[in-house]
Amino acid sequence: MIIEPRMRGFICLTAHPVGCAQNVKNQIEYVKSKGKIDGAKKVLVIGASTGFGLASRITSAFGCDASTIGVFFEKEPSEGKTATPGWYNTAAFETEAHNAGLYAKSINGDAFSDEIKNQTIELIKKDLGQVDLVIYSLASPVRMHPKTGVLHRSSLKPIGQKFTNKTVDFHTGNVSEVSIEPANQEDIDNTVVVMGGEDWSMWMNAMKAAGVLAVGATTVAYSYIGPEVTEAVYRKGTIGRAKDHLEATAFDITKDLASISGQAYVSVNKALVTQASSAIPVIPLYISLLYKTMKEKGLHEGCIEQMQRLYADRLYTNTIPLDDKGRIRIDDWEMRDDVQEQVAKLWKVAETENLSEIGDLAGYKNDFLNLFGFGFDGVDYQADANEMTLIPSIQ
Ligand code: NAD
Ligand code: NA
Repeated sequence: MIIEPRMRGFICLTAHPVGCAQNVKNQIEYVKSKGKIDGAKKVLVIGASTGFGLASRITSAFGCDASTIGVFFEKEPSEGKTATPGWYNTAAFETEAHNAGLYAKSINGDAFSDEIKNQTIELIKKDLGQVDLVIYSLASPVRMHPKTGVLHRSSLKPIGQKFTNKTVDFHTGNVSEVSIEPANQEDIDNTVVVMGGEDWSMWMNAMKAAGVLAVGATTVAYSYIGPEVTEAVYRKGTIGRAKDHLEATAFDITKDLASISGQAYVSVNKALVTQASSAIPVIPLYISLLYKTMKEKGLHEGCIEQMQRLYADRLYTNTIPLDDKGRIRIDDWEMRDDVQEQVAKLWKVAETENLSEIGDLAGYKNDFLNLFGFGFDGVDYQADANEMTLIPSIQ
């Protein structure tokens, strides 16, 4: 069938298998062009199918020649209905990895559950014995707690007071004012349960207990800080509390892994268009101004450039450079004074009429389409595409 983007709010209901495969191939080519990285050889990526997790898996495989197991939650296709992009991304990744002689298998299911943890541990035991790197890159609005059975929902709200600022509907380019009511304590607690560090720590403890972590194993989870204009809804909001918890959990995990000399790190990454970030109010306007500024300065990076740099210049160097809170910073170019000063200036004047000029709205839209396999050069979108073709080797 001919597959076209069907937008509904902050998501696209369709995904293009050939376009998703092109996206993965482009990322692989980028990593290969940067040369080999002397890094981990057996890697588990939790949240491996899109965004930073997919880019981490690609960097592990094609930068470090690593065997990879990927865990994610994606919908398979049915006749006439496409799969979610992560399904096609993974199928394409596995094909390329297998062609390159690299081990790659995947598990599709709820990473928050005991069942998926156990299944993953069994697969590691059977095929790899142990892993030396665990990437934790989940982004989810909900978490069913495995011990209580309670379904927790995260929220994106300010804390303490109502927050009002500019936002953009990136489909139309319409800049408007948005007001978000403050969170109550329950909102905060739930967001910490979903996006904080408890599940990460559960994974690491279960893996350690099962003996599937190599001596000196490293684990990395991803965080975000960002500018003052998004602070109330991001870093000082409900999601920020979850990130505080995630960052604190890194130190707990390092203690828990002491007997095998394991290390847990949080890497603070750059703001990028992903399915997760598109749903956060205010952030898309910031991203479109940031993209414009960073592209002008020759500093722009996507997920793959970020993850390649994380591995090559941070994780696999003699000593991992950390900030005063013990975090890895790969958001260093985003947070540069000249970049932030420029974005702050643009923010003050941004409106519907000038956004396509002072902001990179086109770049935002293109990246958003790319997430679903649309908008790639070299893909014939008028051609018949088989929604059922690409199938990952789900275990
Ligand atoms: P994403 O939506 O692209 O990826 C999320 C991944 O998690 C997918 O592989 C998805 O299948 C998987 N997933 C979701 N729920 C799951 C579940 N229940 N079980 C198994 N897998 C599940 O998101 P992303 O933007 O790459 O975010 C990854 C991490 O990076 C998050 O911690 C996010 O906060 C962080 N981060 C994002 C940005 C940004 O601007 N996008 C910036 C800095 C840090
Ligand atoms: Na991810």
